[in-house]
Amino acid sequence: MEPDGSCTSERHADPPLGVPEVIEPSWLTSVLRQSRVIDKARVRSTVGESIGTGQVAENRRYRLDYDVDVPGAPRSLILKEASEDPTSRSTAMLMGLYRREVLFYRLLAPRLRIRIPACYHAAIDEPSGRFILVLEDLPPTAHVDQLTGFSADHAMLALEQAAALHAPLWGSKWLGTLSWLAGQQGRTADNVMILPKLMTEFVKRYADTAPPRVLELCERVAPGAAAFALRQPKPWTAQHGDFRPDNMLFGARNGEVPLAVVDWQTVGLGPGMVDVAFVLGTSLDIDARRAHEVDLVRGYHQALCAGGVEGYDWDRCWRDYRRYAYYALTFLAPSAVLVKRTERGDRMFLTALDRAVAQIADLSAEELLPS
Ligand SMILES: Nc1ncnc2c1ncn2[C@@H]1O[C@H](COP(=O)(O)OP(=O)(O)OP(=O)(O)O)[C@@H](O)[C@H]1O
Ligand SMILES: [Mg+2]
Repeated sequence: MEPDGSCTSERHADPPLGVPEVIEPSWLTSVLRQSRVIDKARVRSTVGESIGTGQVAENRRYRLDYDVDVPGAPRSLILKEASEDPTSRSTAMLMGLYRREVLFYRLLAPRLRIRIPACYHAAIDEPSGRFILVLEDLPPTAHVDQLTGFSADHAMLALEQAAALHAPLWGSKWLGTLSWLAGQQGRTADNVMILPKLMTEFVKRYADTAPPRVLELCERVAPGAAAFALRQPKPWTAQHGDFRPDNMLFGARNGEVPLAVVDWQTVGLGPGMVDVAFVLGTSLDIDARRAHEVDLVRGYHQALCAGGVEGYDWDRCWRDYRRYAYYALTFLAPSAVLVKRTERGDRMFLTALDRAVAQIADLSAEELLPS
């Protein structure tokens, strides 16, 4: 790997364990030994079951059985690999989503305070796009449904974690040197130009199913979508990019971990407020957002300041919150036409977009769009 974390197929110094074709107990033994989780013990057998919806990647939970009893050794692991769906896989590869997540765990994660699963192995095979992550299993005690289950209390926990993600590398020059992190939602300056086309495609595809106000606003915003993505004033930091309950594990490890955040495929460099506006706008129902958003954003701002961020005053913070209400449109409408189409996916996209349109109107955000 290069000093900036970029890698070419030749020079990419993956850990020797690489990306296996098949998950064998002996391979998992090596991973856990390399991470010093076990010493002489062996994984004797393992069974994998699919979790998640497999829209962008495949996640499996592997139950582990060891030849000897090892106190504290994990009884299960989560393995994340490339999607078996050809469309999802080629899109993910084109946008470098797999690479982002692997490099996130290897290079960025150790410098952040946000709670994420421990990562025992992260590798990518550049030519084929196959990758693997071996992660701590953090099963949530309660599944929080994005459409109905996300409350103001959940939002408060989410924003605490957002501050723990954003504060440590706020305005960091080092982040700017990581070529693989450039751009938002996996979009670099080169491929951001496709946003207007994808948004127009969204309007066509969902003409009969999306609420009229969503279609109208997408149509209006589409021509300026690339400018919106490219002209985002600094300070920047590491942003999650898809910060919503599907990627959050609440009350993990029997409640010991209030919230852990997964799915770092869209990690990017840009304003932290993108994550805040996105989660409040798309995951809270409209009335709950209206009732709690000022307090929630204030709590986030206080956590940022407590985390060492300087020179970002409340007025700027609130203005950014309003402005980045637009992020949901320029992220979700294009994503809806790129990933494998499912019934739940459609419901999620359309509900989230409808909520975001209400947020944009409530906040009079249109006046903050770049002209
Ligand atoms: N370390 C983990 N511990 C427990 N559950 C996890 C872990 N990582 C992922 N999951 C579960 O798997 C789901 C999918 O994971 P993730 O969001 O990383 O993948 P994805 O690329 O979005 O795939 P999908 O298309 O299946 O949502 C998560 O929503 C979560 O429920
Ligand atoms: Mg996900």
